[in-house]
Amino acid sequence: MTKQLQDIFKGFSKLSREERLKALMEVGALNDTDMEYIAKGGLRDTSLGEKFIENVIGYFQLPLGVATNFRIDGKDFIIPMAVEETSIVAAVCKSAKWIRESGSITTEVVGAEIIGQIQCAKIKNFADFEKQIHAQKNYLIEIANREVAFGLVRRGGGVRDIQVRRVPRGDGSDMAVVHVLMDPCDAMGANIMNQVCEYLKEPIEQFTGEKVTMCILSNLVDSKITRATVQINDIDPALAEKIEEASLFAQQDPYRAATNNKGVLNGIDPVLIATGNDWRAVEAGIHAFAARDGQYRSITRWFRDGKGGLTGVFEAPLIVGTVGGVTTLHPTAMMCMKMLGTTSANELSRVIAAVGLVQNLGALKALTTVGIIEGHMKLHTKNLALGAGAEEKEIPLVQKKLEEILAVRKRISLSNAIDVLKELRSSKVAATTQHPS
Ligand code: MEV
Repeated sequence: MTKQLQDIFKGFSKLSREERLKALMEVGALNDTDMEYIAKGGLRDTSLGEKFIENVIGYFQLPLGVATNFRIDGKDFIIPMAVEETSIVAAVCKSAKWIRESGSITTEVVGAEIIGQIQCAKIKNFADFEKQIHAQKNYLIEIANREVAFGLVRRGGGVRDIQVRRVPRGDGSDMAVVHVLMDPCDAMGANIMNQVCEYLKEPIEQFTGEKVTMCILSNLVDSKITRATVQINDIDPALAEKIEEASLFAQQDPYRAATNNKGVLNGIDPVLIATGNDWRAVEAGIHAFAARDGQYRSITRWFRDGKGGLTGVFEAPLIVGTVGGVTTLHPTAMMCMKMLGTTSANELSRVIAAVGLVQNLGALKALTTVGIIEGHMKLHTKNLALGAGAEEKEIPLVQKKLEEILAVRKRISLSNAIDVLKELRSSKVAATTQHPS
């Protein structure tokens, strides 16, 4: 019988890097070509970089890990995460394991269209403008689909609607903003949407007699929302209450909401990066959505379900693509996409939302119980040892000493690491002077 993904989840973090790669090969997440690519250190030749951006001097490499234990909508996933921050991957795997053992993760995408904006900054008559756009709406949709978005139409997508918004300029007058709603299928859709909006500029000017000032997609895609739900059954009631309280704090206080959402993005961004998606676009959309009622709030909610369980919900725009862009050009992103095995942009978006929510659960659990320092700093001791200048063979000794300090004082810093290293080296010098070899 071929090995299933779940067969490698147990004890994965205890394996050496080589063993992890072998395990991923065994379940078909990686193949010989991937192994060769990883062995030679990933992308080296800068010619691809030169195609992406200007003034290239090399590549910036981030650690690439995988999150295990995820079962989303009944399907197991190995989730690639490119991230530098200690404990993100460990924490998300731990929480995913907890949910796997005593709950479930379900997801959905609500809505299909992304939004493009065509702005007329100074408008002579808003009512006339709106009337003309409504009168020509079907024609505008038809020409946009026929002349620009025909590829999407063939795949079942394309422009679906055109709406007009009145936006106050703040001086008593208004600007007019036309919204183009388009289903981008499996693309993130930014390029095609910008082309559609620019194409519609001329006909809109002709029909309305107004001047179009700019055309660009919006990252606040409240017309397409990704929802992930975590259900944990039989949770310790005291813990469930603490997590619910922490969630209320993040709902009500923007200072806490910002940090809460950063913790959610700790899960989301690494998957976006690993799969070659535009993480700035997703971040912008999530933050704007978090402030949609005028106050910045948490994009996750946790509440006791009244049946002894805890429910968590993530809800926000999370627009990603599986075709076009870096996703299908960067060899590491292509390898990660294959390893992840999602079959559509919507499924990728749902998986990423789930990772964000599970990451949030881990953070809230730690914050409301042992505190964030214990888990994080334990794993951070290696970074501190490296930062202090420890060499490979000195690192475990410095780490051990730092863990002892952490256990007693409940905090450690780089200066502790520097002191520990100094002490270690001077005790070695003393030992060699006493027993010259
Ligand atoms: C740190 O990277 C993330 C947290 O601050 C998130 C949170 O406070 O919820 C721990």
